[in-house]
Amino acid sequence: MSEAAKTAPGTITPQFNLPDPVTHREIKIDTFSIHDILDENNNCPVKLGNLQHLIHCQADLHMAKSVDDQARLKDLLKSRANTLRGFVLHGDTAGPLAYLVYYPMIDSKGSRVAYCEDFYIAESYRGHGAAKILFHELAKRTLADNFEYIQWATDSRNTPVHNFVQNKLGAKRPDVVTISANGLLGEKDNLLSQWAGKEYVTRPLRGNDVNLPEKLGLSPNIIRHTGDLDFKGFVTFEKGKPTVPVAITPGWIHLSTFQLKEGLHLEQPVFMANANKDGLMINEEGIVASIIDASKKFSTLKQLEYFRWHILGSASAMKTLLQDRLGLQRDSMLKGQPDTELIVYTLSNGALKKLSENEPDRTLRIPVSAPIGVRTTHVPAPPAQPGPSNDNS
Ligand SMILES: CC(C)(COP(=O)(O)OP(=O)(O)OC[C@H]1O[C@@H](n2cnc3c(N)ncnc32)[C@H](O)[C@@H]1OP(=O)(O)O)[C@@H](O)C(=O)NCCC(=O)NCCS
Repeated sequence: MSEAAKTAPGTITPQFNLPDPVTHREIKIDTFSIHDILDENNNCPVKLGNLQHLIHCQADLHMAKSVDDQARLKDLLKSRANTLRGFVLHGDTAGPLAYLVYYPMIDSKGSRVAYCEDFYIAESYRGHGAAKILFHELAKRTLADNFEYIQWATDSRNTPVHNFVQNKLGAKRPDVVTISANGLLGEKDNLLSQWAGKEYVTRPLRGNDVNLPEKLGLSPNIIRHTGDLDFKGFVTFEKGKPTVPVAITPGWIHLSTFQLKEGLHLEQPVFMANANKDGLMINEEGIVASIIDASKKFSTLKQLEYFRWHILGSASAMKTLLQDRLGLQRDSMLKGQPDTELIVYTLSNGALKKLSENEPDRTLRIPVSAPIGVRTTHVPAPPAQPGPSNDNS
């Protein structure tokens, strides 16, 4: 059919192709890794101050305080340069608009996992595909580095993020409770001495402990795949029997980008079955007392400033020991405010593969009518309560 025949009688055919009215701002996104940013000889358009600003915004969103000390941020990032990873999304006409920071951790089974400490997308750029780019990039990078899966913690108030990660990313909530164990770095000595019973010795796991994990049913990868980690957790023996471990407690060093501090993080201990073929009878209270003692010494030695413990929800014996008998609380974003509890999420290897395969559009198209600088998603303020505002994001 000819063009003339397609035009209905009476319609006016335009004589000129007028340009479309400008309805959208197009922003092309590039990604710069934290190592690019820290390298002063590199002409990276993202500067450390930009990253620091995004960290401040993330803290502000949670009504938490962040420490304003660029030199300390630089030292901390550089001191962890062999393991810390992360990147900033940079828009050609917008500048740095999102970031994500992660590093290796070891889970309760001894798997090497990427712990995502922070992610944040600047308010004006939400709802236009930045999160798709951020998580595609994370999935590609962590799979290339052979991490088994990803874990992180989100403030319970952060409804948009809970909805997004569950509905869009397929994130799952494992049966894990995070206990704030800071109190154990100080007092509690009396109770712990009552628990001591048998004499146990706890020390950090070493690179040559490769035969120990299997004795407790753990993968030797806790040693083999963690050569880059200074700390992999603790091993506990009965005094005088240094070849038969009675417990292994995977652990890792946490980094708070808000507080610019490092802390000790322990996972659920794996205890020897009671009693094993060597006829050893174990006393879990005594072992936990010994792990706490080792944690105190290790934290002093490494200048770690806080202490968290992941307990499996089903492992009620550990929960009873730490929560009911030692009076420790669940960890929260703001100290003393239980409604700001940190909820643990994981993103499985399968979910990461799916994310890495879906190449996102790297151009954000933002309607010119979109409000700039308007907070569209925010974490609701907790009810006012006394107590120091904090905590360790
Ligand atoms: C939640 C958040 C990450 C989403 O980022 P975003 O850039 O707005 O998301 P995108 O535009 O890339 O959206 C990707 C997809 O998720 C969907 N989505 C976005 N926000 C969502 C939400 N709150 N609930 C459900 N789905 C959502 C989008 O519709 C889109 O779906 P589509 O693939 O079908 O088109 C963002 O709002 C945010 O950064 N919030 C605050 C940051 C923060 O709290 N960080 C701390 C984390 S611990």
